[in-house]
Amino acid sequence: MKYDLNEKLAIVTGGGKGLGEAISLALAREGAKVVVADLDINAARRVVEKIKIYSPSSMAMKVDVSKKGEAKKFIKRVIQIYKGIDILINNAGICPRTTFNQIKEKEWDQVFAINLKSIFLLSQLILPWMKKSCSGVVINIASAAGKTGGFGVGAHYAASKAGVISLTKSLALECAPLGIRVNAIAPGVIDGGVNIKVSPKLKKKYKCSIPLGFMGSPEDVAKAVVFLASKNASYITGEILDVNGGFVMD
Ligand SMILES: NC(=O)c1ccc[n+]([C@@H]2O[C@H](COP(=O)([O-])OP(=O)(O)OC[C@H]3O[C@@H](n4cnc5c(N)ncnc54)[C@H](O)[C@@H]3O)[C@@H](O)[C@H]2O)c1
Repeated sequence: MKYDLNEKLAIVTGGGKGLGEAISLALAREGAKVVVADLDINAARRVVEKIKIYSPSSMAMKVDVSKKGEAKKFIKRVIQIYKGIDILINNAGICPRTTFNQIKEKEWDQVFAINLKSIFLLSQLILPWMKKSCSGVVINIASAAGKTGGFGVGAHYAASKAGVISLTKSLALECAPLGIRVNAIAPGVIDGGVNIKVSPKLKKKYKCSIPLGFMGSPEDVAKAVVFLASKNASYITGEILDVNGGFVMD
């Protein structure tokens, strides 16, 4: 299958590590210019070093996507340099595993600001540019936990991802007449990213609950992102695509 993302400008938030790194690499391999946006600029720079052989115009940018002022300056800079935005991957997220009774208000707010509010902020900022070209793709990285509730993750994390799923559908409805597609991916348990430090005992428990019998890889998620970003998915919007080895079927 040809994906043809040649010369498309893609932003990947949280692109410096884990799933975001795999997504940045996969988009660059398909010819996209990638802005690897991360709070951790050194991590973003390391990813750009890896993807430059496929996409020399890619670059790293530092941004805290949960802060309106920073998000605004970031998008302004992207537009100044690249003159437009074709693909936005809202991937940045945090996943505290705090039990419900232990969650402090500050941590609750931080999880919602990074996992959910950032998608509202960035999507609102890029839409005028996508409207201009009557095209564009937004892909939000949700989670199976947004459908099932927390399984080894915090209730605030699961609730924020349920919000991502709902926001994806609302945005897809509003953007469809403008020629802009909005979808989400709901990864299950991925062996990488936030799960890097998960204990072997919890990994074993996860595997027992996955029909395919193994955890997914960041590349499994990246392949789904490339598909949804491409013309092969031109009739797909408002979809929440499970990438989970059968962990959740709905
Ligand atoms: N790993 C999994 O099993 C899994 C499963 C389901 C969903 N997800 C989702 O995938 C996404 C990526 O997760 P990951 O596992 O790769 O995590 P990760 O911790 O490896 O990477 C997240 C990246 O986001 C960046 N980031 C965090 N806060 C930020 C902010 N405010 N502004 C900009 N960048 C910020 C971090 O610096 C980091 O580079 C998250 O939304 C996560 O919820 C992951």
